[in-house]
Amino acid sequence: MEVQVLHQDLLQTKADAWIVNLFAGITQPGGATGAVDKALGGQISRLIELGEFTGKLLETVVLYPSDLPTTKVIIVGLGEAEKLTLETVRQAAGAAYKVAAKGKAKTIATIVHGAGVGGLCPKACAQATVEGALLAGYQYEAKGVKNSEKPEQLLVVEHCAEKLELVKCGVGRGQITAEATNLARTLVNTPANHMTPTHMAQVAEKMAAESNLKCEILEREDMERLGMGCLLGVAQGSVQPPKLITLYYEGNPGGEILALVGKGLTFDSGGISIKSRDGMERMKNDMAGGAAVLAAMGAIGKLQPKINVLGVVPCTENLPSGSALKPGDVLEAMTGQTIEIISTDAEGRLILADAVAYAEHKGATRIVDVATLTGAIVVALGDVFAGLISSDDALAEAVLQASQQTGERFWRMPVHDDYRELYKSDVADMRNGGARGGGAITGGMIISEFIKKAAWAHLDIAAMASTEKTKGYSVKGGTGFATRTLIQVAENLAEK
Ligand code: BES
Ligand code: MN
Ligand code: ZN
Repeated sequence: MEVQVLHQDLLQTKADAWIVNLFAGITQPGGATGAVDKALGGQISRLIELGEFTGKLLETVVLYPSDLPTTKVIIVGLGEAEKLTLETVRQAAGAAYKVAAKGKAKTIATIVHGAGVGGLCPKACAQATVEGALLAGYQYEAKGVKNSEKPEQLLVVEHCAEKLELVKCGVGRGQITAEATNLARTLVNTPANHMTPTHMAQVAEKMAAESNLKCEILEREDMERLGMGCLLGVAQGSVQPPKLITLYYEGNPGGEILALVGKGLTFDSGGISIKSRDGMERMKNDMAGGAAVLAAMGAIGKLQPKINVLGVVPCTENLPSGSALKPGDVLEAMTGQTIEIISTDAEGRLILADAVAYAEHKGATRIVDVATLTGAIVVALGDVFAGLISSDDALAEAVLQASQQTGERFWRMPVHDDYRELYKSDVADMRNGGARGGGAITGGMIISEFIKKAAWAHLDIAAMASTEKTKGYSVKGGTGFATRTLIQVAENLAEK
């Protein structure tokens, strides 16, 4: 998709569809919407008067002018002006874009939503408008399946000269963050027989070449040399060789390192503690955290913030076989700590134990891990909020602040030493689970046991990685959730 910013009036813009907006409760549209209304002989005002269009959030209506340089005009509701946020802008942009795309428009011209009467920052609004459109327009291109035709051009039209530079900057950023999210979605949507650890590593290598990143892939022998017994333990039941991907972006030579660590479990059958058959096909999404990290690293390489960022993605399958890990086995992590296996289905914390230890070994002073870690977080928060578990208030705050900007919701759960009782073992330093209560918290805390000094925050995205809903800018399938928040965290922690 080609995205362009044009410094002109929407009325002068040749396109297949124009997108304008309306706040709820407005009877006389102003700005670009007002100008279009005038050119249409007051048709928009008439619709409002008749109560056929109210400006309710995500409401859309289409008009067909006969003598304007567009085939159709799409008006999208922004809801109440006082409730406008960047997330509203994203959602509205997505809803309008979908209507345009469904109507086979090749060239779509839109104004920036929210920066006029809404009073939000034009740069942030331009970013959110483009994000909403490009995220809503995503389609997974499955092999051999014919997709519907896609729009070719998105024109962001800004008539105000003062806003132009801000709009250009926001549009460029929005394109980078949305394309990164869409990449993460594709990695998640790709079937697990194709999206193997080896394939994940190839994606990372290609990305490194395109985005100013250094890429290093640790092979099984490297893991053996480093003593990564937990990652190797999970991988031993599969014929697919495990890979530990590291990507490095150096934006502040000599400065501190932020690590983003993502669970890259390309298929989770549960292993010997095998999952029940219903819905097991969904477990191809168990690498969604890793996908978010790879995609975020690519975007960070393009955005070039003044910070050093290390991406670490441990990749393996979790399968039952004659060589598989068994309940009761004891594994030794890279740190020398031992862990008794209660359930081979609690494998995410095992591979992340070695991955976070490796990140710290590489010099990270802040570690944010992201994983489809527990069913318990699904029970606790549903698919409305993702879980945030952290022992560091500053880092937790940085995630929450970033999530305000991106519209991806996180809810912080408590961390307390008393939870450690729940994963005590008689035969090892700890066990990998077992207690029923507080499963999302203990799952996260077990990962943190393998970090010595670095600040730590854990994002449990088990409920968010895929969706059934096609609404606003979300599309059924992989969501790319956390990609944009990880990018924003890196940017917010960067030196200005
Ligand atoms: N990948 C799953 C968690 C998951 C559940 C992701 C639902 C997406 C949707 C994880 O590896 C897992 O199996 N966790 C177990 C842990 C338990 C055995 C301690 C769980 O949550 O049941
Ligand atoms: Mn599992
Ligand atoms: Zn898993």
